[in-house]
Amino acid sequence: MKAVLCKTYGPPETLVVEEVSSPIATKGRVVISVKACGVNFPDTLIIQGKYQIKPPMPFSPGGEVAGIIKEVGEGVTHLKVGDKVFSLTGFGGFAEEVEADAKTTLLMPEGLDFITASSVMYTYGTSYHALKNRAELKVGETLLVMGAAGGVGLAAVELGKIMGAKVIAAASTDEKLELCKKYGADEIINYSTENLKDRVKEITDGKGADVVYDPVGGQYSEPAFRSIAWKGRYLVIGFAAGDIPSLPLNLPLLKGASIVGVFWGAFAANEPKESFQNFKELLGFIAQGNLKPHVHAQYSLEQASDALYEMLNRKVMGKVVVVN
Ligand SMILES: NC(=O)c1ccc[n+]([C@@H]2O[C@H](COP(=O)([O-])OP(=O)(O)OC[C@H]3O[C@@H](n4cnc5c(N)ncnc54)[C@H](OP(=O)(O)O)[C@@H]3O)[C@@H](O)[C@H]2O)c1
Repeated sequence: MKAVLCKTYGPPETLVVEEVSSPIATKGRVVISVKACGVNFPDTLIIQGKYQIKPPMPFSPGGEVAGIIKEVGEGVTHLKVGDKVFSLTGFGGFAEEVEADAKTTLLMPEGLDFITASSVMYTYGTSYHALKNRAELKVGETLLVMGAAGGVGLAAVELGKIMGAKVIAAASTDEKLELCKKYGADEIINYSTENLKDRVKEITDGKGADVVYDPVGGQYSEPAFRSIAWKGRYLVIGFAAGDIPSLPLNLPLLKGASIVGVFWGAFAANEPKESFQNFKELLGFIAQGNLKPHVHAQYSLEQASDALYEMLNRKVMGKVVVVN
């Protein structure tokens, strides 16, 4: 089978496509014929050795796939050969076949296509955990989403609306903000051209945002924190801009505000029941037509490094997918 391989840490152009032997389903695991693999920011980090997970070399990036079960390992009872599934693999998805943990592999609901199914777990899983379990976002609260047209950002916009919040989308271009509006944002801020803090204060009549969702980090985190409301919750999601910001600790003191860390992968591993419940609710929203990932572009395995560059160059809106 064909696979995109990372043989040495480096930028996307160091990836190669090669024929490798098919994986085998060991105990508790399955082999999936991959139809589509959603691309996420961690894929750009894992190939550079900058991610928490460092798989043994050579490995394929690609953390979430949709496809068809090819082989079932010993002890797996809820899946059989031929089932259409979607799965959190962590890595290995940029390939024609991948071995996956049966526990993180779910049957695809009726009506979901492979491309959509490969684009829901990371982004919606992360953003729902952040807004529901960590921020405890309430109906009528104001949610500011940074990097709002990105993968997890757009998911946070959609989920914020479903949860009854007023959503302010902030992003770097007007085109991205137009997309956020289509996905339900009530207000938009272009943080490349407008003063983020002043605009949030203006939109909220001086009160500030109750919850700030920040997957970007870098230079905008401090102004975003300064725009937070009394007893606000600031969700630390990630640092797509590259720099991990520091905040003066008088800021949370003055606002009675909380800085709340979000690590969805650890949540799913440590609290599997709660994580499964979140997925059940998310699949319900999808079935009702209330959540639909925006797929910006599709790439072949040979073009996988282009997909990663699109992400590193801030070109992606919503999701990109590698298809077989
Ligand atoms: N904590 C968790 O459990 C968890 C789970 C999943 C992902 N994450 C993290 O969340 C972040 C976003 O992931 P994603 O998959 O949504 O990525 P994405 O689709 O690429 O979105 C990231 C957004 O960040 C902004 N950005 C600013 N500077 C950037 C730069 N130098 N390079 C790339 N993007 C930049 C871009 O928006 P603008 O152009 O509008 O600024 C972009 O849309 C990543 O850091 C990822 O590791 C965390």
